[in-house]
Amino acid sequence: MAKYTNLFSDFKIGALELSNRSVVSPMTRTSAEPSGLANNRMAQYYSRFASGGFSLIITEGTYPDLAHGQAYENQPGIATEEQAAAWIPVVDAVHKEGGKIFLQIQHAGALVQYNRFTDYSLAPSAVKPKGEKLRDHGGSGEYSLPIEMSKKEIESVIESFANAALRAKNAGFDGVEVHGANGYLLDQFHTDYTNFREDEFGGTPENRVRLSALVLKAIRNKVGNNFVVGIRVSQGKVNDFFHKWNGEEVEAKIIFESLASANPDYIHTTEFQADKPAFRDHGDTLASLAKKYGHLPVIANGQLGDPDRAEEMISKKETDFVAVGTSALANPDWPNKVKDNKTISKFDHRVFDPIAVIRDEETY
Ligand SMILES: Cc1cc2nc3c(=O)[nH]c(=O)nc-3n(C[C@H](O)[C@H](O)[C@H](O)COP(=O)(O)O)c2cc1C
Repeated sequence: MAKYTNLFSDFKIGALELSNRSVVSPMTRTSAEPSGLANNRMAQYYSRFASGGFSLIITEGTYPDLAHGQAYENQPGIATEEQAAAWIPVVDAVHKEGGKIFLQIQHAGALVQYNRFTDYSLAPSAVKPKGEKLRDHGGSGEYSLPIEMSKKEIESVIESFANAALRAKNAGFDGVEVHGANGYLLDQFHTDYTNFREDEFGGTPENRVRLSALVLKAIRNKVGNNFVVGIRVSQGKVNDFFHKWNGEEVEAKIIFESLASANPDYIHTTEFQADKPAFRDHGDTLASLAKKYGHLPVIANGQLGDPDRAEEMISKKETDFVAVGTSALANPDWPNKVKDNKTISKFDHRVFDPIAVIRDEETY
């Protein structure tokens, strides 16, 4: 434990005090009710991470509207008061174990595998997504060709993120995270090959990140200053794992400065390997670029389940927090194990067969 002094030191995001630097990364488990209501199974699943020593849990991506936001069957929503109320027992269960919990708000954009509200998808431009639907979430085959969003549709997405954030605040969440990563709607705007718009939302990196900044501003206006608001950003995508920003550090500077100017409390970066250079084979990690240009607390994610790597990134001031995904699934008590020098189990992808729903053994 003396080895991991940084990992086990406290730190603040906004006004929120967190007891250590270990965070559960957001993970879609498609285990909500078909109507998008969170349930008792999810409460049990999430509270295990809090009792296992994680100071903060970020929920799975949750849809904000009864329109184009939903990506997966049995994904939870926060588009209505009823859906928001269903999250309260989840939040309470995590708080009871001493943890904090942020809701991740996700709009699918073109990456729709199942949507019970509409039969077509929206995106910055009519570009068919690369790759195939995710088998882990019950998908197969190619994605559909999306329809280019109108200005009115863009405004309505901004509004739905802000309303969803307010519902999350009222349900007792400690914060919200805007999903601006991994290939979903906001990342489709950030990405040069999925955004061919000729208006103020397309073209330059400044324009491509504008929607994310407007979403953050709209949320801040709704929830006020005393509620944590963050954004997750990545280069890679679920359907294009190794994508890199063409403008490299210049583009990273524009993205992180633009996002920071919208007044979030933190930036969460995710990379395939978070402790590797963001571009080519040398230079800063994406997390350290977020710190350098965003001047905000940063959460880094990507293969940081080895506590030595996690501790090193924090000690080198490349990040303030580490988020672990698959390592948290294999070790819901990852922080407690690290503290007690216990062996960390390896994640076995076969637990997702046939799909990545919450298993019985994850609920006690
Ligand atoms: C089953 C599964 C579901 C995921 N769902 C989400 C999600 O809803 N939102 C998100 O931002 N990332 C999601 N991710 C990505 C993880 O948050 C994380 O970035 C990824 O697992 C890499 O971190 P790791 O190396 O610690 O596992 C998901 C990953 C997995 C394995």
